[in-house]
Amino acid sequence: MIQIRPATLEDIPEITSLFRDTITHINKKHYSEKQINAWSSGADDVEEWKKRIAKFYFIIAEIENNMVGFAYLKNGNYLDGLFVHKDHQRQGVGSKLLRIIESQVMMNDFEVLKSDVNKTALPFFDNKYFEVLKKQNKSINGAGFENYLVEKQL
Ligand SMILES: CC(C)(COP(=O)(O)OP(=O)(O)OC[C@H]1O[C@@H](n2cnc3c(N)ncnc32)[C@H](O)[C@@H]1OP(=O)(O)O)[C@@H](O)C(=O)NCCC(=O)NCCS
Repeated sequence: MIQIRPATLEDIPEITSLFRDTITHINKKHYSEKQINAWSSGADDVEEWKKRIAKFYFIIAEIENNMVGFAYLKNGNYLDGLFVHKDHQRQGVGSKLLRIIESQVMMNDFEVLKSDVNKTALPFFDNKYFEVLKKQNKSINGAGFENYLVEKQL
């Protein structure tokens, strides 16, 4: 039922609206309005999304041809983004995207998958056997964020 396919440049409008909606509805539980505004404004940087699609392993999850999530892998083994549609949380979409990302990391000949994950997503990564290496501070569009450096042995 959940189909995975590579992203194309035509997906950018849907990717950016999903990104903005998920942050403003799901991540807002753990972050201030200022942080949410700074983070979700990343949706407007179309050039950056074009680069991500062109350079990274970038995949889309669909249910009945509707986009329900996406994920992208940078440098072969760094999960740089994983977002599930606000109305399709806890339906296994994140798990399926992660499974495909993990297969790609192994095909790239890496034994470890790394990421920086935010507070909202930590229970998901914990459920997927990621280990927290350290808590850290990151700046996104001028706002400070606490997040966690995690990794998983594959
Ligand atoms: C994190 C995220 C990608 C997970 O995607 P998802 O499709 O909802 O995850 P799944 O349905 O595959 O969840 C698998 C398991 O992870 C755990 N899990 C997921 N979200 C959880 C939550 N909010 N609280 C506790 N456990 C959670 C559960 O054990 C779940 O299994 P269950 O639903 O059978 O109990 C999604 O919540 C999301 O888009 N969050 C906002 C964006 C974000 O923070 N992205 C990550 C960093 S870039």
